[in-house]
Amino acid sequence: MTAFTPHETGRGLPRREALLKVTGRAPYSAEVGPAQGVHDAWHAALVLSSIASGRVTAVDAAQALAQPGIVAVLDHTNAPRLAGDDDEHLVLQSERIEFRGQIVAIVIAESSEAAREGARLVRVAQEATAARTRFDLDAEFEAEREPHGDDAARTLASLSGAAHVVDATYSTPPEHNNPMEPHAIVARWNDSPGGGPQLEAWLSTQGATGAAKTLATTFGIDADQVRVRGEYVGGGFGSKGVVHAPDVAGALAARAHPGRWVRLTVTRQQMFVLTGYRAPTIERIRLGADADGRLLALDMTAYTQVSTVKQFIEGATGVPAMMYGGERRTLRQKVATLNVPVTSWMRAPGEMPGAHALECAMDELARACDLDPVELRIRNDVATDPATGKPFNGRRLVDCLRLGAMRFGWSERQAEPGTTRDGEWLVGLGVASATYPALMQRGSETSIEALGSGRYRVRMGSADIGQGAWTVLGQIAADALGVGIDDIDLQIGDSAGPPATVAGGSSGTASWGASIIGAAQAFREKFGDDPGQGDELRAGGTRPEEYKKHAMHSFGAHFVQARVHAVTGEVRVARMLGVFSVGRVLNPMLVRSQFIGGMVMGIGAALHEAGVRDELGHVATGDLASYHVPTHADIADIDAIWLDEVDPLMGPLGARGVGEIGIVGASAAVANAVFDATGIRVRDLPITPATLVPGLTGLTGR
Ligand code: MOS
Repeated sequence: MTAFTPHETGRGLPRREALLKVTGRAPYSAEVGPAQGVHDAWHAALVLSSIASGRVTAVDAAQALAQPGIVAVLDHTNAPRLAGDDDEHLVLQSERIEFRGQIVAIVIAESSEAAREGARLVRVAQEATAARTRFDLDAEFEAEREPHGDDAARTLASLSGAAHVVDATYSTPPEHNNPMEPHAIVARWNDSPGGGPQLEAWLSTQGATGAAKTLATTFGIDADQVRVRGEYVGGGFGSKGVVHAPDVAGALAARAHPGRWVRLTVTRQQMFVLTGYRAPTIERIRLGADADGRLLALDMTAYTQVSTVKQFIEGATGVPAMMYGGERRTLRQKVATLNVPVTSWMRAPGEMPGAHALECAMDELARACDLDPVELRIRNDVATDPATGKPFNGRRLVDCLRLGAMRFGWSERQAEPGTTRDGEWLVGLGVASATYPALMQRGSETSIEALGSGRYRVRMGSADIGQGAWTVLGQIAADALGVGIDDIDLQIGDSAGPPATVAGGSSGTASWGASIIGAAQAFREKFGDDPGQGDELRAGGTRPEEYKKHAMHSFGAHFVQARVHAVTGEVRVARMLGVFSVGRVLNPMLVRSQFIGGMVMGIGAALHEAGVRDELGHVATGDLASYHVPTHADIADIDAIWLDEVDPLMGPLGARGVGEIGIVGASAAVANAVFDATGIRVRDLPITPATLVPGLTGLTGR
């Protein structure tokens, strides 16, 4: 029996829930109400620490409790006890303060206004101890991992014998996830034993299955005693990929009042301290090449920070370890543990800063070798993954570079930087490679039920955070069952459904899709193509044997035309093209949107985004007025295209993930274009007018 024949798959169908969303009828988690069985919800608001290290000595809730509508104030002395061993999740379990912005009290009230006002009135006495908050090369670093690759001395010997050497240090600042929809949870504990799960929650999450498990562990109950729903999620970028403290806080507030729904919405300002962010990084890269630009040696040290609360490492060595050749290679990761908010996932964690540094260094090497940067990358292409020794799953980086160069008009590039002017603007072109692992996670299952008349209900716990799962999983299910997409009643975003892995690591569609195809195949084998109404089956998928034997990656190339104002230093990304090799493209409209979203975020990283933490550990850029992200006015001519291909190592679907590769290398392409325009190499992101003006010669030319 044919497992999968693309028919609906491959069509550029618009989002199936688009009308619901644009008419305000798609209930996001914070909005659930009577229609979802949520009546008379109370509201919770958070009180945060104002010191970076120390302890809470007293919580004075009297003034807050005297206000009308305030029901309770929870602190570490009276909050319900939690289980689990993840310190990030142990909200209000001790007086310890590990960072500025930690939850130290929760106010519960009849209205959100009262809750917020109550949070303002709670007095938290804190005793400060010395805090370590500074991240720079003077911080105290532990070597986190064994050096990867060769003995450092051999690599350095090889470097010193190289015809061309680049030795440069790059940095990326803290970057903060800012999905349109902030985090939210609406939770209730069952007050009648035996009547359904103990904890029910609507949660803005990238994975209802995983979130339910984590909440169960945190509260010390069985996983089947938690039901998490999150059918419509307004973006995440990774911030909703794991449970963060506010999610627990909402469930904890409800725990204190069994039978009562409690709603907790995270404010935009709180998003900067409580829902994860990309840690700042510093990368020293040394590249050595022979006279023809072929890499001989790579030595890299990547520095980053983690919180004392939890170790999540923004590991930047991954991409440099696998991207190009070179016979001697040493990479090491160093980590400083600081009194800072918990670092976590943000689109392409690790790959983004790692690729930024490497792809800027490759641009510098191209200049040193007097080679075209596209040509330098082609010369250093490899068929075998230098990091694992495994063959790549059909690495088509060179095809992406060549196609992009042709489409973008790369041949117009001038050999000398800073020589192309258009009135008051300096104009330059930049390129960078992109890559991302092709992950296919095991553990997802799908339930298929025949509804009669050729219709099927397809259920699983997967999440649509805006990437388009409501649509694409419908397309996959239709093809797997040999019907049209309108014959599929898809139900996702509910942990009561069969388990699904997270919408993260660009793994969702491939992993869930395999389970849909596996379940559909089992269903058709058992019930045939004309099943009886009510026939139902639940099954998972498989991963091809060959998957494990290969280094599974996607590749791509970014091309940027930057215009830099000769006087003000304003940078405009006038044109940008991404070319990607990602296996089968399941829905061109949604895939293009994912690529462009990632590229826009790369422009943000290059030019706009910078979290600033002051000496007191305060995130000073805790809003969208001071933390800048690209807006429509910042984005000009941008496009993404892809190679026509199918990746058989990804199973019948043949598709690799597309969520993250768009950001990988994008910031480097911008930085390289800025260099080409101005001759100024800015190695610390973001590239702002202030970083360029001192080097610009204004309107007088050079
Ligand atoms: Mo993405 S950072 O893997 O959710």
